[in-house]
Amino acid sequence: MKFIQVTDMHIMPPGERLLGLDPRAQLDACIADINAHHADAELCVFTGDLGHEGYVDAYRNLRDALAALSLPYYLMLGNHDDREAFKEAFPEIACDRHGFVQSVIDTGAGRFILLDSYEPAAVWGSFCEKRAAWLRDRLEESNGRPVYLFIHHPPFEIGIPSLDSIRLLEAGHLRAAIEPCDNIKHIFFGHVHRPIAGSWLGIPCSFVRGTNHQVALDFHTTRPVPKNHEPPAYAVVLLNSESVVVHMHDFLDNSVLPITPGPATTE
Ligand SMILES: [Fe+2]
Ligand SMILES: [Fe+2]
Repeated sequence: MKFIQVTDMHIMPPGERLLGLDPRAQLDACIADINAHHADAELCVFTGDLGHEGYVDAYRNLRDALAALSLPYYLMLGNHDDREAFKEAFPEIACDRHGFVQSVIDTGAGRFILLDSYEPAAVWGSFCEKRAAWLRDRLEESNGRPVYLFIHHPPFEIGIPSLDSIRLLEAGHLRAAIEPCDNIKHIFFGHVHRPIAGSWLGIPCSFVRGTNHQVALDFHTTRPVPKNHEPPAYAVVLLNSESVVVHMHDFLDNSVLPITPGPATTE
């Protein structure tokens, strides 16, 4: 099974730029690349920070961009989003009974569980007991089938202080829901605008760059978050019963080296 993860698009109202780039143009290029090379993927998950500000116009701009995507897509919230404006702009997106933007996608490869770590007016993330209770029920229903989790904020430190202070704080409810399960195969995060692989509680996890601006590999600055223009990327994920493979693809890189015949080899 193949799917795509795109994160942190930070869409602005039409024509408005952010940190020297037009987030809509960046997303358009990302979508064009996905359509050209991965139209055979089953779906695409957008892991939060969908909009940056000016939400009514930004979300309209986002919806307009997504109309070009040839894959079914699923949207999650990040700290830069606005839950109520989002729900007005995307009324078809599933929520749990408390109104959190949490949903399940049952695929041939297992159960995808999309979580909501948005905390109004905060940069850091939260995951309360209500959200955790919903997660526990969805995990129980999985009956041991493979589960893949998606959440915007990481609940652990990654060694970049400016991001560690705005991670998912008070992760106890999330930890308690996850710890009894041995069928969670991978966790996909957004928020950090960097390519990172690692594990949490023994569960493998990965992060991918955003489609607009990025965060520098800076182990010293505490604030503000040091941003830069490293290449934007999305993730192409391959799942089967034995493995999870996450390819980070710099979709604006079109460098090609000519193939020159090498010397004949003799054995
Ligand atoms: Fe972001
Ligand atoms: Fe974020």
